[in-house]
Amino acid sequence: MSKINVNLPTGAAMPALGFGTWQATDEELESALNNALECGYRHIDTALVYENEAVIGKVLKQWLDSGRLKREDLFVVTKLPPSGNHPCLVRKFFTQSLDALQLEYLDLYLIHTPFAFKYVEGNLHPTNEDGEFLVDINTDHIAIWREMEKLQDEGLAKAIGLSNFNERQIKRICDNARVKPSNLQVELHVYFQQRPLVEFCKQRNITITAYSPLGSRGITSFMKKLGFDRDFPDLLSNPVILEIAKKYGKSAGQILLRHIVQRGIAAIPKSTNQERMKQNIDIFDFELSPEDITKVDNLDLGEDGRVCDFAFFKGLNKHPEFPF
Ligand SMILES: NC(=O)c1ccc[n+]([C@@H]2O[C@H](COP(=O)([O-])OP(=O)(O)OC[C@H]3O[C@@H](n4cnc5c(N)ncnc54)[C@H](OP(=O)(O)O)[C@@H]3O)[C@@H](O)[C@H]2O)c1
Repeated sequence: MSKINVNLPTGAAMPALGFGTWQATDEELESALNNALECGYRHIDTALVYENEAVIGKVLKQWLDSGRLKREDLFVVTKLPPSGNHPCLVRKFFTQSLDALQLEYLDLYLIHTPFAFKYVEGNLHPTNEDGEFLVDINTDHIAIWREMEKLQDEGLAKAIGLSNFNERQIKRICDNARVKPSNLQVELHVYFQQRPLVEFCKQRNITITAYSPLGSRGITSFMKKLGFDRDFPDLLSNPVILEIAKKYGKSAGQILLRHIVQRGIAAIPKSTNQERMKQNIDIFDFELSPEDITKVDNLDLGEDGRVCDFAFFKGLNKHPEFPF
């Protein structure tokens, strides 16, 4: 079975299985991205706040210059940082990302979060002396979106979209947009299947990308490092998933990813481990049966399954556009 794409309303085809890049050192990422491209990843997900666009740009340039890849083979996604959520800063941050990635256009540019930080030169995460984030409460989504539309008009971003926005916020953008959002990137995995939000987006022809598709393992390790003492779920050892994995001769990770992709949703697992990254993209030679799909559907915990609630950004829930 060949690889599956998710078709954007612009007509572009986004590979359904992409490569997440958050939380890898430059050194790890340089070799991981080379390995990922070798094993067939073409959809690369990054963000200005991951501070890894330069190393990604370096690797992509080597592949493009050597002729091993053509630009049109790639689907590169990056995101406007929370401190760039001001109409006058959209282009500045977009250009910064494009330059670091050494590209002439992006395939998809997303507003990373609906909330905004104050802009402080050289500081993407400005806080006060108590460690609370300096939020800018005057965030104007419509004015920001107008700047995003210009990037698509000019062909600098082939498509534009949102990340971490809730239904009300998406609806307001759609109701006021000239260019509609092509994609929403949100936390989505078998414990948090986001059924209502996915249906809402489907009705508006907005495609979905699942971040933390293996159950926010990246976020859980990040939060543990910050001292959060929460009981984080381990989807990979769920007995239902393990039983299905055994039946198909696949790993638990492959079942989690296949379930998402079979819903017509893109997934962007992160792995710097060669064996696991290979496994994660090797999910196109089998199909989950309707009975097994139902078993996995039943693992949904709804809102209780959410891990990424941004609790690690102290003081953020004071922002009027805090989404959850
Ligand atoms: N838009 C947003 O706000 C947002 C937020 C979070 C994440 N994201 C994006 O989504 C990507 C993925 O999310 P994530 O990194 O939070 O979580 P994830 O992909 O669900 O999990 C990544 C973790 O799982 C491990 N792993 C990967 N494949 C595995 C497998 N087959 N079996 C067992 N363990 C495996 C990885 O370790 P190894 O590397 O050692 O394999 C890593 O620790 C990010 O990298 C980023 O690009 C976006």
